[in-house]
Amino acid sequence: MVTGASESEAREFAKAFRSFLEWVHSEQDGARRNEVAALVSDFLGAGASDLSVVARSLPVFEHVNLQTALNAWSAESGREVAVHGISIPPHHPPVSLQQLITGVAMAPLRLSAPALVDLPNGPKSTLACLRLAALLVNDELGRYVVMVIGPGEHHHELSVEIAGLSVDAAQAVHARLGELRRALNVYRGHVIEVGLSPMGGVTLEFGEIPATAREDVVLPEPVLARVERHALGVAAHRDALLQAGQHLKRGLLLYGPPGTGKTHTTRYVIGQMDGYTRLLLTGQALRAIGSAAELARDLQPAVMVLEDVDLVAEDRSFGPGSSPVLFDLLDAMDGAAADADLLFVLTTNRADLLEPALAARPGRVDVAIEIDLPDADARKRLLALYSRSIPLQLSEADVLEIVERTDGVTASFIKELLRRAMLESLHDDPPAVVVTAEHASRALDDLLDSGQRLTRSLLGVGNDPESLPAGGGLGSLPPQRGPGRMGYGQLRASVRRIPG
Ligand SMILES: Nc1ncnc2c1ncn2[C@@H]1O[C@H](COP(=O)(O)OP(=O)(O)OP(=O)(O)O)[C@@H](O)[C@H]1O
Ligand SMILES: [Mg+2]
Repeated sequence: MVTGASESEAREFAKAFRSFLEWVHSEQDGARRNEVAALVSDFLGAGASDLSVVARSLPVFEHVNLQTALNAWSAESGREVAVHGISIPPHHPPVSLQQLITGVAMAPLRLSAPALVDLPNGPKSTLACLRLAALLVNDELGRYVVMVIGPGEHHHELSVEIAGLSVDAAQAVHARLGELRRALNVYRGHVIEVGLSPMGGVTLEFGEIPATAREDVVLPEPVLARVERHALGVAAHRDALLQAGQHLKRGLLLYGPPGTGKTHTTRYVIGQMDGYTRLLLTGQALRAIGSAAELARDLQPAVMVLEDVDLVAEDRSFGPGSSPVLFDLLDAMDGAAADADLLFVLTTNRADLLEPALAARPGRVDVAIEIDLPDADARKRLLALYSRSIPLQLSEADVLEIVERTDGVTASFIKELLRRAMLESLHDDPPAVVVTAEHASRALDDLLDSGQRLTRSLLGVGNDPESLPAGGGLGSLPPQRGPGRMGYGQLRASVRRIPG
């Protein structure tokens, strides 16, 4: 069967053809075409086309920093800057300064009020940023044009172009703008979620982390103290360490079964690091590690949280001769200067997948800390923690029984147990005013019931059906024996530990 063009293809073609016809007409309409070009040429004067246009492309997330820098730069004394917006007809690729000066293959452009895109420049504020504009500048260097070409429909990058100056002078202007972008970087000191756009570019978003107090992190005291000493202690003794020639850069790996509080602990740690630039990367966004690490270096002191690193352990980067993403990640950790105040926190529940890569690239992670299933004492504390907002009435004996029955569960399981106990109490007729041992026990029976295997697995409790007690029994769960639990011992032996 012969198939013709689909309706949508036909529509696309018609649109392109219309736009071509418009272009042909506008080519004849010289006055309109030259409005912007004329402004630029008149401003630069004769001979402008003998000078090179010097362009620099920047990552799209720099758009807001570029605007911040341009605002500061325009306000510097001895400089006059006139901003002119440029309008391009729909579906046209953006114009370059080179085209404006030479008049080659020019779209029918118009002068207009500058188009702006309002971008976040803080967790609760935004800055209007130029999308496509020519800045006519007059300062000690002479008269020149700085053009900002922001990302748009046909253009997924950000560029700054300079015309009317010698190459050296144009480079100096680029460098000055770069300095200002770094000095005034809006991301410095904030919590930033690093992501990947569908086009593969790096995106940055101001994030928020839920306030997590020390007493809300239920871990054996030596474990939590060790996390704190490594993450926070180095920062506290920064000067003394530097004076003694010791490095500040450090890598901390938190590993252990799902639902035991690796992410939770990380939130507590970064909540304590006010003033640090805190970059959060999870899953596929870990591919952005290169740019993110560069940013962390520029914006130090900084913390990079690399969550669930195992998710990219088996992925390869794009392109020929590509290396595994995990190796890129470890290499990026090593690229930073040793005296940079940089903390890398990695989390995983598949230490076995990570171990070979860490062994092949030693020195990136100085401390690996196992966040294990909660022991009896921790389960008791978790019960107390997550019943704080619940009208729970349990005797000491009730608590002991629950603690015993929940041997082998995760911290998140205990949290869910209390939520279910609360629900059980509300299902009573009439709804109970307090949550009792009876409700907790019913919730526990339900969660431990063999029919709830998937729920249990979602909560991170062992998914080997034979290891689970029959529904309703007073048995206890053995610790999880899934693949996520393999290799921790090995891992512990393979990473270099710093004393203390
Ligand atoms: N040790 C803990 N102390 C207090 N609460 C905890 C603890 N562990 C887990 N929780 C609770 O359970 C939730 C889920 O835990 P979290 O996301 O930190 O697990 P995780 O170890 O990061 O798991 P995964 O390996 O699946 O990423 C937390 O948001 C917190 O409410
Ligand atoms: Mg996690």
